[in-house]
Amino acid sequence: MEGIKDPQSSYLSIKNLWKSFGSFTALKDVSLDIKEGEFVCFLGPSGCGKTTLLRAIAGLDLQTSGAVVQGGKDISNFPASERDYGIVFQSYALFPNLTIEKNIAFGLENTGRSKSEINERVSELLDLIGLPDQGPKYPAQLSGGQQQRIALARAIASGPGLLLLDEPLSALDAKVRVYLRHEIKTLQQKLGVTTIMVTHDQEEALSMADRIVVMNEGKVEQIGTPNEVYCKPETLFVADFIGEMTQFRGTISGKSLVKIGNTELNMVEHRFSQGREVSITIRPEDIIPLGS
Ligand SMILES: Nc1ncnc2c1ncn2[C@@H]1O[C@H](COP(=O)(O)OP(=O)(O)OP(=O)(O)O)[C@@H](O)[C@H]1O
Ligand SMILES: [Mg+2]
Repeated sequence: MEGIKDPQSSYLSIKNLWKSFGSFTALKDVSLDIKEGEFVCFLGPSGCGKTTLLRAIAGLDLQTSGAVVQGGKDISNFPASERDYGIVFQSYALFPNLTIEKNIAFGLENTGRSKSEINERVSELLDLIGLPDQGPKYPAQLSGGQQQRIALARAIASGPGLLLLDEPLSALDAKVRVYLRHEIKTLQQKLGVTTIMVTHDQEEALSMADRIVVMNEGKVEQIGTPNEVYCKPETLFVADFIGEMTQFRGTISGKSLVKIGNTELNMVEHRFSQGREVSITIRPEDIIPLGS
């Protein structure tokens, strides 16, 4: 059945991935599946292992154990050069001594394309990112936001199966960041390329991702849509990290009742037994003040 793609099947599978740096364990048994064409964000606090996981997927830093499967092929031990992805880092990482055109063309050389094919592809990409006349300039002559769009064009130039973005917007000022969020998302949808974006900015993840992988201390806390991780957090960490909340300690006093001090509150149905001490979280939008 060649050519027929199952939209539900997994394009990228991470299986029981562990990564140690000496005695420090940066990734602890990470498993996840990403579907073809999906936009997934790795979200978590600084040092939780987001970049380490992305680098393992890219083959830039091999895992200690576990497997990476892309497009049905086990690429766990493939060097970076033999993997099928484009990558954009936080710093623009353009070659300062090459023109914008040459920067974008860089990944296209040695791919068997003729010079005119490369030129054509470069101008198509410049059009696609909305910078059609900037080709002859040098990186230093462009703004940070423009440079990051060039880095994006370079990453997608050869039509990779996977686009990896490591905090691509965090070096930019707030206004450009919001604008580029929209631009990256639109471009990703247009190309249909499976994309992973690392971010520690929850707003960025909530507004851009189809699904969010919430990470903490080298582990996956929860994988879900923005709505799921916000409205149905599975752990206290997720509830606290995403959005605002107030936390109480309480005791289960009924099927959908909890007692906090002397006050009994109604709540969602739960899996805990009567008398069990639990943490209760309340979002600001759940508290509605009304005048008498
Ligand atoms: N090459 C390395 N050698 C030793 N420790 C490392 C190395 N790379 C990463 N680490 C450690 O692994 C942990 C995870 O690092 P990683 O860069 O993946 O975090 P991150 O989630 O991307 O954080 P940030 O949001 O700050 O970029 C950190 O504690 C870091 O110090
Ligand atoms: Mg990082």
